[in-house]
Amino acid sequence: MVIYLRGNLGAGKTTLVRALLHALGYMGRVKSPTYTLLELYQAGGLHLRHFDLYRFHNADEWDAAGFRDEFDGWNVCLVEWPEKAQGLVPQADVEITLEILSTETVNNGRNIEVLAISQIGRECLKVLQS
Ligand SMILES: Nc1ncnc2c1ncn2[C@@H]1O[C@H](COP(=O)(O)OP(=O)(O)OP(=O)(O)O)[C@@H](O)[C@H]1O
Ligand SMILES: [Mg+2]
Repeated sequence: MVIYLRGNLGAGKTTLVRALLHALGYMGRVKSPTYTLLELYQAGGLHLRHFDLYRFHNADEWDAAGFRDEFDGWNVCLVEWPEKAQGLVPQADVEITLEILSTETVNNGRNIEVLAISQIGRECLKVLQS
């Protein structure tokens, strides 16, 4: 399963992944994969892959880094900045877009939009709604 996380710098993408992992029972530290580009987790019986492709520039490295192999149909891949590796990252099942809600001085939290793209994405969202 592939989940795109969209939103500007600081929109809350990593924070959402951290919350998801903790909700699945992961007890360790959840670091932003800003420099490593990828962090691996096991939680709730799932293999999760957290990508941050903001600093991904070299398409030749996609296979060399083993990124293609991570999208294997079993892993749950959460991808920040998927547009930085357009044409390499597989299509999303779910797209999440975060937006900072703020007035002039107060940070008022976030707006979140969750869009199901594929059949499996729709099934996931149905469970969330029930
Ligand atoms: N829902 C929220 N409400 C209030 N503050 C939030 C929320 N989500 C994240 N933040 C705060 O916003 C800051 C940036 O969050 P985060 O690192 O998750 O952003 P990001 O979208 O992953 O950014 P980047 O594109 O740089 O990776 C953090 O200080 C975090 O605590
Ligand atoms: Mg982030």
